[in-house]
Amino acid sequence: MNRDAVVERVLAWASTTIRELPWRTTRDPWGVLVSEVMSQQTQVGRVAEKWPVFMERFPTPSACAESSLGEVLQLWQGMGYPRRARNLHQCAERIVELGEFPRDLDSLLALPGIGPYTARAVVAFAFGHDVGVLDTNVGRVLARVGGVTLSVSDAQELADSLVPEGESWLWNQALMDLGGTVCTSRVAHCEVCPLSDVCAWHGDPAVADPATASAGVSRRQARFEGSDRQARGRLLKRLGQGSVRVDDVPEIVGREFDIARKIVDGLVRDGLCVIANDSIRLP
Ligand code: ADE
Repeated sequence: MNRDAVVERVLAWASTTIRELPWRTTRDPWGVLVSEVMSQQTQVGRVAEKWPVFMERFPTPSACAESSLGEVLQLWQGMGYPRRARNLHQCAERIVELGEFPRDLDSLLALPGIGPYTARAVVAFAFGHDVGVLDTNVGRVLARVGGVTLSVSDAQELADSLVPEGESWLWNQALMDLGGTVCTSRVAHCEVCPLSDVCAWHGDPAVADPATASAGVSRRQARFEGSDRQARGRLLKRLGQGSVRVDDVPEIVGREFDIARKIVDGLVRDGLCVIANDSIRLP
């Protein structure tokens, strides 16, 4: 791979083409953390609507920690995967205990529910550290440009080695956009890609897509219609309006009694609702 050419082309493309997304105006670590946790399993468009609302309501870790998890879950409505809201609430509590926002990878990794992706995103986007932020989109771009299938550690090593000094923010945001809008999983829009002339694969239909078997490349999300995830979502939405009787859960979630019971037990186990006197409510 011609690294200098790759870096130069991506940065030039980014300077005119990078998407305006609400969280891209902030370098506040709490704002960055919230945007990255939201973006992991929710489409960018929905995050772009929810992030400003969340930041208005919980502008700091203390504002979030002082609120109940139930309030955070109410605001999380429509985002899916609500354990992320619980993780953010726990992160806020921990950051308040620490007295300051963690600034390095190891102390970020020690926060509840924070993995390598999120920790790297925070140090790159809030603190400008020269680390590669490797998500599905970035992993796909790197595999295709290099024309090789990459293990997680290979991909991380390559991502770290490419970061142009002092340009970590723009570089990482740009690679994410390139993977999210041009070099997408279903179609590679090579005709508008700044890397087409230095890309080993460039969408050649005769050559297997190097990204397909690469590490970190996402599997499709499981079907939502009829899933337990859908039933959990229905119950959490209803709990946002107030407590409900356990006996009413089957009707609320549209499932048989046994399944409804399993949904409630799962939410209790995950700390997303509490049960008392035959009623359940948000924590
Ligand atoms: N997906 C995850 N993080 C993102 C970001 N910072 N910008 C756009 N899409 C993203």
